[in-house]
Amino acid sequence: MDSGRREMVLGVTALGAGLVVGVWLGKKLFSHRYSRSNKSHGGAKGDPLMEYLLQNSLREHPVLKKLRKRTLKEPGNLMMVACEEAQLLANLAKLIKAKKVIEIGVYTGYNTLNMALAVPADGRVVACDINMDFANIGKPFWKEAGVEHKIDLRIKSASETLDELLQAGEAETYDFAFIDADKLNYGLYYEKCLQLIRKGGIIAIDNVLWGGNVLSPGNDADTLSITKLNERIYRDSRVNITMLSIADGVTLVFKL
Ligand SMILES: C[S@@+](CC[C@H](N)C(=O)[O-])C[C@H]1O[C@@H](n2cnc3c(N)ncnc32)[C@H](O)[C@@H]1O
Repeated sequence: MDSGRREMVLGVTALGAGLVVGVWLGKKLFSHRYSRSNKSHGGAKGDPLMEYLLQNSLREHPVLKKLRKRTLKEPGNLMMVACEEAQLLANLAKLIKAKKVIEIGVYTGYNTLNMALAVPADGRVVACDINMDFANIGKPFWKEAGVEHKIDLRIKSASETLDELLQAGEAETYDFAFIDADKLNYGLYYEKCLQLIRKGGIIAIDNVLWGGNVLSPGNDADTLSITKLNERIYRDSRVNITMLSIADGVTLVFKL
């Protein structure tokens, strides 16, 4: 082979190798920064182990199932809580005989309905969101399940609603809170919930792993807010904690 031809072959080979490495690196970075997904939303099709888990453990109320299927038609359905996680939250709420629950971030109301089904007939779920359109999707399902009367929907910033509850003298009267709204206010929601929850009550905080981005937050404000709260809770002597890798990560905080 003459030297010109050899250089050309070498050049093409180097270009090909560069392309392969580039694609591999891109895939790695992409999957790391954007791997947040709720596999169980659509029944975990294509993930046999997750499918097995759901088929052998998910006991979803028929109306919850209907609401999950309805929510799947929404473009933002990734926001919906994972059904196996919601089941854990309901089991915990029942275990501590929760009557008063706070849901921060309702979306289409899957977990709001889940909690309303978990509390007794005289129980209450204060459901906080800023978007009535999302809640309107869930409302007919709350009614169909016969628990609409237990849900106190408040459409305004969750921070305002939590302040109202505190001003109404309801500190230390709630049993369970689920924090699942705007990530920038996670620290604030945590502190206010800690005031509202009784001793022995539980605060569950969603998305604490944020698709793995907590490993390298960079300058992303949402990720930084989550990592800051994770570190704060780890050192918080007012509570016992468990961080679970279920769905997008959930921290269970048990108030001492
Ligand atoms: C991840 S979704 C909640 C999912 C829900 N927990 C479920 O069971 O599917 C987050 C919700 O937080 C709401 N949100 C965003 N900012 C908020 C704020 N400042 N106060 C209250 N809700 C807020 C959004 O409108 C959205 O519906």
